[in-house]
Amino acid sequence: MRTHYCGLIDESLIGQPVTLCGWVNAMRLQAHVAFIDLRDHEGLAQVVIERDNVAAFELAATLGNEYCLRVHGTIRRRVSVNDKLRTGTVELLAERVEVLNTAKDLPFALHESPNEDMRMTYRYLDLRRPAMQQRLRTRGRLVRALRHYLDERGFQDIETPILTKATPEGARDYLVPSRVHPGQFYALPQSPQLFKQLLMVAGFDRYYQIARCFRDEDLRADRQPEFTQLDIEFAFVDEHGIQDTVEDLIRHVFREVQGVDLDERFPRLTWAEAMRRFGSDKPDLRCTLELVDIAEAVRQVEFKVFSGPANDADGRVAALRLPGGHDLSRKDLDGYAAHVARYGAKGLAWMRVDDPAKGLGGVHSPVAKFLDAGSLRAILAATGAQAGDMLFFGAGRWQTVSEFMGALRLKLAKDRGLIAEGWKPLWVTDFPMFEYDHEAQRYVALHHPFTAPKIDDVDDLRAHPGTAVSRGYDMVLNGNEIGGGSIRIHRPEMQRAVFDLLGIGEAEAEAKFGFLLKALKFGAPPHGGVAFGVDRIAALLAGTDSIRDVIAFPKTTSAQDLMTDAPSDIAPAQLRDLHVQVLDEPAANTPAAQGH
Ligand code: AMO
Ligand code: AMP
Repeated sequence: MRTHYCGLIDESLIGQPVTLCGWVNAMRLQAHVAFIDLRDHEGLAQVVIERDNVAAFELAATLGNEYCLRVHGTIRRRVSVNDKLRTGTVELLAERVEVLNTAKDLPFALHESPNEDMRMTYRYLDLRRPAMQQRLRTRGRLVRALRHYLDERGFQDIETPILTKATPEGARDYLVPSRVHPGQFYALPQSPQLFKQLLMVAGFDRYYQIARCFRDEDLRADRQPEFTQLDIEFAFVDEHGIQDTVEDLIRHVFREVQGVDLDERFPRLTWAEAMRRFGSDKPDLRCTLELVDIAEAVRQVEFKVFSGPANDADGRVAALRLPGGHDLSRKDLDGYAAHVARYGAKGLAWMRVDDPAKGLGGVHSPVAKFLDAGSLRAILAATGAQAGDMLFFGAGRWQTVSEFMGALRLKLAKDRGLIAEGWKPLWVTDFPMFEYDHEAQRYVALHHPFTAPKIDDVDDLRAHPGTAVSRGYDMVLNGNEIGGGSIRIHRPEMQRAVFDLLGIGEAEAEAKFGFLLKALKFGAPPHGGVAFGVDRIAALLAGTDSIRDVIAFPKTTSAQDLMTDAPSDIAPAQLRDLHVQVLDEPAANTPAAQGH
């Protein structure tokens, strides 16, 4: 149908006959000549139709944007070169123009950035935009580089089921009703976790899969209900073996796809240190601001908001110094207080430092009146405050304060341009094994329940679950959790103990994970692995904030596909076949119930 791609014609073709196919990107009709910018996936070519080519010239007047054309002609040098275009030194002088298809007026112009709903409804048009084409190609290059690296190193690519049993990763399951087993359901995998562990029991040693995962959870810019993992598992390794290999893998893909050399060795931070210094388990190390604990300095003050948590083992009083932040207005400060309130802060105290040498006379703060000269001196010393700085203080429960001060750190970094260029990868390790859910009054797993604890002794773990540290690790890049994994439990008694601690009784464990417990009894090797968020890495490489931009047909934040209109109603007969009855009233937390 065509001899060349629009975006690839060049001076070597001058004088040669060429046939191009593509879409009308833009047109200019003049008295004696018509110009068409013809676009295909490689780029743009200028097509020229001269008036003496009567048929083509008349046809040109009937064309519109996004018409699909085939043009035959000869390549010639352009009179006025367009430096902005890769093909800008040449053009196609048309002999024959054929309309392959007409196009209605588009709901949005491709060079505009239409609103998100429009983009999703007409995704095939949104994807015509060169920026989107680029992003999906970047993703393609990423996946190629990942596969290439792992194939070369003897990892076996193995597919695992989509119709399966629940694999818990902390979200709700998507369920599929069984027609032939009334009242029974398959679950779509939240990850291939259990299957990859069983592949290690099966002796595959090194596995990988580019796997689709499904999670019914609150969606954000970095979360989709279905997303793609690079899932990896190794047998006979410890965490260092895994981390070294996949660190090298990530370095490899950044070199291949982006031409970027990441750090030779990624820094490692324990979870506790990450929370303490950055208030986050996925710290963005491009920003150098750090939280400072000031409990020592305020233990004796009369201000209970500070002294209470300062004297509580589960409390925290943290300060954040914003160098040169004295110019923040009352309105700015109120804005930051409102921001941290979303993360559970009861308040946000601040202190403008005019002259640290002058003690209480040299600072301005709503809490200054509650402090004495000694505590102030200690705060200024701990934070290293200089004239012209602004200090922020958070006090309360350790976890809450860490999180809201971490959120403040990021917001200040963004607002004040304190995020340096470049790439800052790191590992976060030594996560707590369990987190206590105060509402449900029970422990929940911080990673998934198959993660091994550092202590090998089952009785020890049962005695001290609250302080147990896991063998889990996350890879973080520029504040994004791009991957996570762990060494797994490979002995049935330990797996049982962990289920117990999570409140999963013997009968439930048997019903849900009996196949795993059974498999662990047949000489399961020590094993571990990791899974990377392919969408998140692709988004980082493509330089976009939203993973929707690197997924061809993503869902909205309310998990809808506006283009196909999924999810949608099902005919009563089909529901009957599936033995499913739909309740009349809308469930409390559906988009329909919330009036969206
Ligand atoms: P985890 O739940 O940490 O681990 O997931 C691994 C990585 O997948 C990405 N990710 C997501 N990306 C887009 N949308 C989502 N909803 C979403 N959820 C997770 C993140 C995350 O780091 N089975 C374990 C891995 C293991 O232990 O080997 C697991 O799934 O980048
Ligand atoms: P109050 O006495 O409650 O008006 O608070 C005095 C100052 O302390 C105000 O600036 C509040 O924003 C701040 N504040 C109150 N609670 C906290 C808290 N938990 N952490 C940090 N600052 C707080």
